[in-house]
Amino acid sequence: MMPVGNPAIGEDFVDREQEIKQILSALKKDNVLLAAPRRFGKTSIMRKLEKELFGGSNVVIFLDVESVSSPQRFLSEIIMGLTDFEEFSSESGSSSKLKNIYKLFQDNVEEVGVPAIFKAKLRRSVEEGLKEDWIDKSNEVFQIINKSDENIYFIFDEFPIAIKNMNESDTDESDAEMFLSWFRKLRQTCTNVRFIVGGSVSIERVLRDVGGTNVINDFRVIRVDGFERDIALQIVKQVFEEESWEYTSLLGNKILDCVGESYIPYFVGIMLSALLDEQIITGKEVDESLIEDVYNVHILGSKCKHYFDPYFHRLKIFYQEMDSKAARAILGNVSNNENYSLELAFDVFQRETGSHDYEHFLDLISDLENDFYIEHNCGQLSFYSKILKDWWRIYHGNF
Ligand SMILES: Nc1ncnc2c1ncn2[C@@H]1O[C@H](COP(=O)(O)OP(=O)(O)O)[C@@H](O)[C@H]1O
Ligand SMILES: [Mg+2]
Repeated sequence: MMPVGNPAIGEDFVDREQEIKQILSALKKDNVLLAAPRRFGKTSIMRKLEKELFGGSNVVIFLDVESVSSPQRFLSEIIMGLTDFEEFSSESGSSSKLKNIYKLFQDNVEEVGVPAIFKAKLRRSVEEGLKEDWIDKSNEVFQIINKSDENIYFIFDEFPIAIKNMNESDTDESDAEMFLSWFRKLRQTCTNVRFIVGGSVSIERVLRDVGGTNVINDFRVIRVDGFERDIALQIVKQVFEEESWEYTSLLGNKILDCVGESYIPYFVGIMLSALLDEQIITGKEVDESLIEDVYNVHILGSKCKHYFDPYFHRLKIFYQEMDSKAARAILGNVSNNENYSLELAFDVFQRETGSHDYEHFLDLISDLENDFYIEHNCGQLSFYSKILKDWWRIYHGNF
């Protein structure tokens, strides 16, 4: 059965050949920004990339920076990540110039092999060393990295949240702005380093509060969408075989018609695991009526509400208050209509916010699009995901 919640690793990882190929070819010249909301499969792709890139003279560092809230902490994570990789690669006997980095923070670098003690000491001296002037110290670190013969790949998961944290935690000088301009210069100077960043929060909106999006316009943006229908059908078929249920394409298509486009792995996983739960409890045969019941009673019922609640709550967390209020009202209306006109949405915006600022309204619509809530085609708005639309209409559709 597909994992629901944890990133798909190893055998659980299905397809994404196109995305992986696209990213690997982009990395030849560019840095990559993976754009998709939570649970669309970014971390799974990043972990797959980490495996694909590993080997030869490549150094690959994966960091989840969701809890990072200062440039100093970000840099110390980078240096500790290099230590982990060093330790890993020293076991495979390759030594590298990267060890010189530690000399910047600690004399006895030869201890690198002794994990726990050394790492704790190193982390302390790194954070100490970065306290004074993290920009100078970091430039020294990357000068060493730039001289090394390896190709270095840094994968930063939940990068936009780290920037948001920095922006919210900084005292006087805007750490977030300084960090972003330093990071941009770094990308222009380090020729043997590539960055793959991704995050469940649209970076555009985070950056709008931190001096604008031009600091990342050198990234190649790669969208992570749902699976193609035939891939999603294969996954359903595989689960039927694993559970020894009798598979027919009618049943397979019935399940995908419930989930609807786009076929986001997480939502397909939720539908299949709810079906399994119900089948085990009732012992019933998996047929069209069981699938329909599971969708209407469980998926759209209280039992599975916790899977979708975060998509509603994050509007209050990541959007400004007025925007969040207008967004909830607009999405409520879009969830009740096949196509909802932009004019009607602007009426709702004006009513909810009291503002007649059309530019601001359009920014909000593009944020909701970047966050994969809606699609905007020729002045018509529609929900991006059918299952989320059905859920939204039931729980937040009264406007
Ligand atoms: N390529 C994939 N193959 C199988 N399952 C996947 C794949 N991508 C994502 N999933 C499933 O979707 C869910 C969310 O995946 P994850 O990578 O954590 O998303 P994100 O990082 O975008 O929040 C997990 O349950 C995972 O098992
Ligand atoms: Mg993730």
